[in-house]
Amino acid sequence: MRKIITIALGFFIASLSQAQEASITAIKAGKLIDVENGKLISNQIILIRHDSIISVGANITIPKNATVIDLSSYTVLPGLIDCHTHITGQPGGDYYAAIFRQTPVDVAVTAHIYAKRTLEAGFTTVRDLGSAGLVDIALRNAINKGDIVGPTIYAATVFIGSTGSHGDLNGFSPYLEFNAPKGMSGVANGVDGVREQVRFNVKNGADVIKFGASAGVLSEEESVGAPQYSQEEMNAIVSEAKMWGRKTAAHAHGAEAIKMAVKAGVASIEHGSLVDAEGIALMKQNGTYLVSDVYDDEYILSEYSKLGFPDKIINKEKLVGKLQRENFQKAVEAGVKIAFGTDAGVYPHGWNAKQFKWMTRFGLSPMGAIQAATINAADLVGIKEKVGSIVAGKLADIIAVKINPLEEITSLENVQFVMKAGVVYKK
Ligand code: ARG
Repeated sequence: MRKIITIALGFFIASLSQAQEASITAIKAGKLIDVENGKLISNQIILIRHDSIISVGANITIPKNATVIDLSSYTVLPGLIDCHTHITGQPGGDYYAAIFRQTPVDVAVTAHIYAKRTLEAGFTTVRDLGSAGLVDIALRNAINKGDIVGPTIYAATVFIGSTGSHGDLNGFSPYLEFNAPKGMSGVANGVDGVREQVRFNVKNGADVIKFGASAGVLSEEESVGAPQYSQEEMNAIVSEAKMWGRKTAAHAHGAEAIKMAVKAGVASIEHGSLVDAEGIALMKQNGTYLVSDVYDDEYILSEYSKLGFPDKIINKEKLVGKLQRENFQKAVEAGVKIAFGTDAGVYPHGWNAKQFKWMTRFGLSPMGAIQAATINAADLVGIKEKVGSIVAGKLADIIAVKINPLEEITSLENVQFVMKAGVVYKK
């Protein structure tokens, strides 16, 4: 009897190690972008077991039973990370219809389409900064479970904003009221109120906290740059988030609001359009990331009037679009940390990489722009140990393009190979 068990065990172990060897994938990378050292290296072999990279180098023997993926005529780089998406929706119809005839259920029904498009565009991770009805959480969880296809999502749940802010609904009769359950609108005021809202978001699954430090463009309140929370409220949001182990992202266009948010200790300034010299210095000093959506202006000015957005909004865009790009360049030149973030959802998902061209036009080198979307983005999201570069021990989030993006950055708009956690989604 004991003999039988031993023999059976022997077979079991033999087939296990065979299976293990068989489960190794080897990628032959003609060129590989080493984002940690800012270098392009040639003829690398990447070995992957299950979801992780086990080794990378030029002199690696490919195990006999490994599945080989030949990317020797491609440039291989880490999966891209977009630190500012709204992956659950995108403009598709009339401005008022979206406000009055759509519920979070409508959003939920189509969100998976955008998630798939984003992943297929080479974005293996996104930080999603604001979604209605906790759809982002449901989407994140379904992707993590493997039920649907999409990038790994770090989600903010609802945008936290003051009454009358970018996060509120403005410009309508006060007799109109939406009956969102408590907490679901994200409108919160006062130190106690904002603390409670942060707790609500965390309780419901938020990985990151997002709030409106200043007014916005695509909302009907006045003065795109004006602060919309007091210093005390911003401090409370950030410290409450910290208490729960969450980083904070501040939506901020205006110079004053940017400085207030940086002083409060946010991890990133989103948009940063009207940042001044003092704000740039303060961001540098505090190590605050700038996440600037420098492509958006193109799309908003060409499409949003057709979608019925009020002139008031279009005029706000005209006010900030150009300045945002110029100030982005100033921040880059001053050495402010830059992470890639697009606000995708303002324009169609899957177009995220269009922003690279604008980042390189306004101050970044192609390598700098790619680092912003890989190693820097991973640092901002707090996942540097897991993703952001192709090194042993990290998840096998790997993409490839035909044309070397260090020579032609727009090649990232056409990603040909996508692997997320060792699984190939596009080939
Ligand atoms: N969500 C942002 C807002 O409404 C979009 C800003 C887009 N414009 C721009 N120039 N980046 O404020």
